[in-house]
Amino acid sequence: MANKTPAIRTVTVRAPVNIAVIKYWGKSDEKLIIPLNDSISGTLDMEQMCATTSVALSAQFTSNRMWLNGEEVDMTANARLLRCIEEVKTMLSPGEWPSGHHLNIVSVNNFPTAAGLASSAAGYAALMYALCQLFGIDDAARISTLARLGSGSACRSLYGGFVQWVAGADHATSTARQLLGEAGWPSMRVLVLVVSDHRKDTSSTAGMALTVQTSPLMAHRAAAVVPGRVREMAAAIASRDFDAFARLTMADSNQFHAVCADTYPPIRYMNDVSWSVVSLVHRLNSSSNSSGSKGGAALVAYTFDAGPNACLYLLEEAVPTVLAALNAAYAPKKEKGETQLEVKGIQYQQKVKLNKEMADHAAAVVRPGALKYVISTKLGPGPQVLTRTLGDEVSLMAANGLPKL
Ligand code: DP6
Repeated sequence: MANKTPAIRTVTVRAPVNIAVIKYWGKSDEKLIIPLNDSISGTLDMEQMCATTSVALSAQFTSNRMWLNGEEVDMTANARLLRCIEEVKTMLSPGEWPSGHHLNIVSVNNFPTAAGLASSAAGYAALMYALCQLFGIDDAARISTLARLGSGSACRSLYGGFVQWVAGADHATSTARQLLGEAGWPSMRVLVLVVSDHRKDTSSTAGMALTVQTSPLMAHRAAAVVPGRVREMAAAIASRDFDAFARLTMADSNQFHAVCADTYPPIRYMNDVSWSVVSLVHRLNSSSNSSGSKGGAALVAYTFDAGPNACLYLLEEAVPTVLAALNAAYAPKKEKGETQLEVKGIQYQQKVKLNKEMADHAAAVVRPGALKYVISTKLGPGPQVLTRTLGDEVSLMAANGLPKL
């Protein structure tokens, strides 16, 4: 007897997080998500942080449904999500999305959602990549443009390594491109210092809209500061000049939070722990000569997004020293014995004993227990297809297209 169950077309993908070193903040077009300025980011390795998404299309489903981190979400309330799906439909030939067919989408993040850790970027990149894969659309530039409609920063998660989002003038020209592949600067490392994994108070979308409306500094930043910085950052990345890269990264994070402070009413994403990290990094950099790095060059750079968590970019050789300083400053206090910060991800066996100057820097900012944990990672590639089979071990859906328990 023939099997009457309609076929389910499916794919499971994963997509990376990206952390900007020249920030996107402010739109010239709210609906199309066209930014006021170009931005540049590093794409992080998916082994430590990623969004995994399974999508399935079938006549078995009676409506579009979505589950995010184990809970069903109301898709009809998410205008951006609906817009993204409609936009994919406009790219298809008649009949490619047969009438009466609906989507099931299941997505999970392996890191805290909406805590200023770029979860929407990875989430929309994964969703648009998966949807496009369902219909054989494989052009990263087109998928990047689509992902931008979901969340601006998502357009940068379609590529690995270092990526520039060119602001552009309209939907077709506002898209990301790769500046350098992940293998192009192999010693680059990233430490994400998790201060809080709670949901942020002011969303990026609402925050940047208020900044554009009320901050006189914002227009100056977009017109007079960022264009030069983008050129200098692209050059620093092309020549693997860590010192220039670090200085630009920190300056741009600082200016982003300055325009937040210049917003009326002001927006505050960084907290006291964030500021203590800023202080520690500048202290470490001021004496990086004594840690073996050449000529007073920066050892490490911080950057902060729309939340209190710090993201540190640094070269592999500096990681043991920086981890030792973070431990001295932030490891929880115990009655007996030595305590260590919890480091998830890439492990470093080499233990460094801080010299007196470095130990003094850590002592100056000491806040035992202020960091929850550290995610230790590096640059990584763009999105990947994991499977095209339902019920497969990596698929998030069972054979009937519903989320696995
Ligand atoms: C601070 O991409 O989350 O992380 O486009 O409104 O969805 P929407 O905003 P979103 O903003 C990210 C802002 C940032 C800086 C950056 O990633 O460049």
